[in-house]
Amino acid sequence: MGSVIVGTGVAQPPHVVSNADLVKVMDTSDEWIQSRTGVARRRYVAPGVGSVQLAAEAVSAALNDAGVAPGEVDLLVNATMTPDMFAPGNAALVQAEVGLERICAFEIRQQCSGFVYGLELADAMLANGRATTAVVVGAEAHAGYMPFGPTSWAMLRGTHDGPADPDEYAAATDSRAWSVLFGDGAGACVLRRGEDDSGFIGGRLFSDGGSYDLIHVPGIGFSRQPYIDAAQLEAGLCIPQMKGMELFRQAVRAMPSAVTGVLDSVGLSVSDLDLVIAHQANARIVSAVGTALGLDESVVPSNIAEHGNTTAATLPILFHEQRLAGRVGSGALVAFTAFGAGAHWGASLYRVP
Ligand code: UT7
Repeated sequence: MGSVIVGTGVAQPPHVVSNADLVKVMDTSDEWIQSRTGVARRRYVAPGVGSVQLAAEAVSAALNDAGVAPGEVDLLVNATMTPDMFAPGNAALVQAEVGLERICAFEIRQQCSGFVYGLELADAMLANGRATTAVVVGAEAHAGYMPFGPTSWAMLRGTHDGPADPDEYAAATDSRAWSVLFGDGAGACVLRRGEDDSGFIGGRLFSDGGSYDLIHVPGIGFSRQPYIDAAQLEAGLCIPQMKGMELFRQAVRAMPSAVTGVLDSVGLSVSDLDLVIAHQANARIVSAVGTALGLDESVVPSNIAEHGNTTAATLPILFHEQRLAGRVGSGALVAFTAFGAGAHWGASLYRVP
């Protein structure tokens, strides 16, 4: 018996930034961003709002959707790469913010594949009786990474008409390949143990630390003394460094392979799939995943135009939207798959009860 998703919820910050807005603060164009990535707009949290607040909103919305009271939850798995503070992780802070009991709440640092890792962990703990009602949440506040100075932020928030500061413009342009991709948001699922042979029926998780530098944030680490200093900030070590093309190449191989591997392990095939909830790092990656699997694009939907890459929040936001759109009917076979920093990747297979 696999566990089943009994509720979903999302949280989205209100500040929407279009590609046309970004054109004012860096050398880019709507045409380049849309044609190379598929992103049309993204949202950024306001200063003072972090991934804890987004996660708490998404968890509360999911509990409400499920009709489950906070006091019934006995497991919280929190995935983020943009926590509110270095320690403790977000999980305990979200637990307190939502008003959950003193339950098992823990943090996973698996970046874009955080949600699929979280689903697998929660499913295992429900299956072995360690928990009865679990919440898995992915939440990100990437705005803190964004390479924008104070004038640029004021322009993006509509409190300054411009023009951009030339130094800020040059710095933002240096980071344009990755910064245009990301957006903020959160998504959560409430899981309970199923009563038949539906629910999560298989999963496969992988890691390859040899590829850690495909995308990584090298600064703020305890192999340095002190672990953070002005020199690291100056050298840009606290923002992502990305080998975009190689990341792209590995992602389009790894996700289809993980999906077919998990299908094989339970005796099903690609033609049995009704829906693939794939990580949204680039619309071209999503489309290539569909092509590699031989699936129509309607089976491998993309929402990156509206959200950008929301890292650990991507899968639950997309799943929530597909549920609302009526794409997750009883009996449907859904594959969740993601690939990202680590490198970590994997796939989970879900039969809707
Ligand atoms: O979740 C994990 C996170 N990330 C990913 O999975 C990302 C995977 N990779 C990708 O999505 C793509 O590699 C990118 C979208 C990041 C880049 O696309 P690309 O087609 O690989 O472009 P590129 O890096 O090879 O750059 C091509 C050109 C360069 O100009 P030159 O050297 O040919 O003159 C870049 O400077 O495009 C330029 N460029 C831009 N131009 C306008 C890069 N970013 C931008 C930009 N606006 N934002």
